[in-house]
Amino acid sequence: MHNKLANSHLPAKPYTTGLVLPVRVLHAGHKDEILQHLLLLNEEDRRLRFGTQTPDEVIHHYVEHLDFDRDAAFGSFDSQLKLIGMAHLAYLPKSQDEAQAAEFGVSVLPEGRSQGIGTALLTRAAVHSRNTGIETLYVHCLANNRAMMHLAQKAGMRIEYAYGDADAYLKLPPANSSTIVEEAANEQWGGFDYALKENLKRSNDAWWWFLGKPQINAR
Ligand SMILES: CC(C)(COP(=O)(O)OP(=O)(O)OC[C@H]1O[C@@H](n2cnc3c(N)ncnc32)[C@H](O)[C@@H]1OP(=O)(O)O)[C@@H](O)C(=O)NCCC(=O)NCCS
Repeated sequence: MHNKLANSHLPAKPYTTGLVLPVRVLHAGHKDEILQHLLLLNEEDRRLRFGTQTPDEVIHHYVEHLDFDRDAAFGSFDSQLKLIGMAHLAYLPKSQDEAQAAEFGVSVLPEGRSQGIGTALLTRAAVHSRNTGIETLYVHCLANNRAMMHLAQKAGMRIEYAYGDADAYLKLPPANSSTIVEEAANEQWGGFDYALKENLKRSNDAWWWFLGKPQINAR
């Protein structure tokens, strides 16, 4: 099987105890979290994510201009509701006789890497793409971005190299009833996971308030 994301609902990695890693749709209300997430990336990660040196001001501008009506964004939150991974699916303008395409950009904070979050975000974006009529999903990456190349290859993407950069392409078949159901189930699961973490965090915060935060002994 070549096009794994298109043909399979069950990628190998993004599962813990048999469950797909929860991914939530992000909206304009998440702009602060997205900004904090991207500002936490170091210089090299920003270069890999955006393909060039990306100072804080550029990140501020990027987040400010995210268009949630046109594009889609997905996030993975840790137990403290920190946005540990985020993906932006940017819909490209459709030109005549060309397939409708979208560009996928992703970042996972270092402490969350190699746990399947990047794969889960790509899987989620691919299903959403199919359900919204996208025929080609592509990722622009620097040719030395080994982690992204590995992730793309594992997903069955075709990779083309040019001038030190690489474009990974995934041809997507049209949506069907299972992709619609899959996306709805993912959305419910992502929402449930977030609500659970929110409640746990609230009750932990309440206990810390009641008992007092433990002091770390300074020598
Ligand atoms: C690329 C990135 C999103 C991957 O996120 P992630 O959550 O670690 O991804 P996953 O855990 O799903 O998969 C990563 C895979 O790459 C592999 N990998 C990690 N570093 C690697 C490296 N240097 N060389 C080869 N493979 C590597 C991991 O072992 C894992 O493979 P496996 O699933 O077969 O074990 C993350 O590294 C990142 O945010 N990088 C900076 C931004 C970026 O490069 N974005 C992509 C361009 S848009």
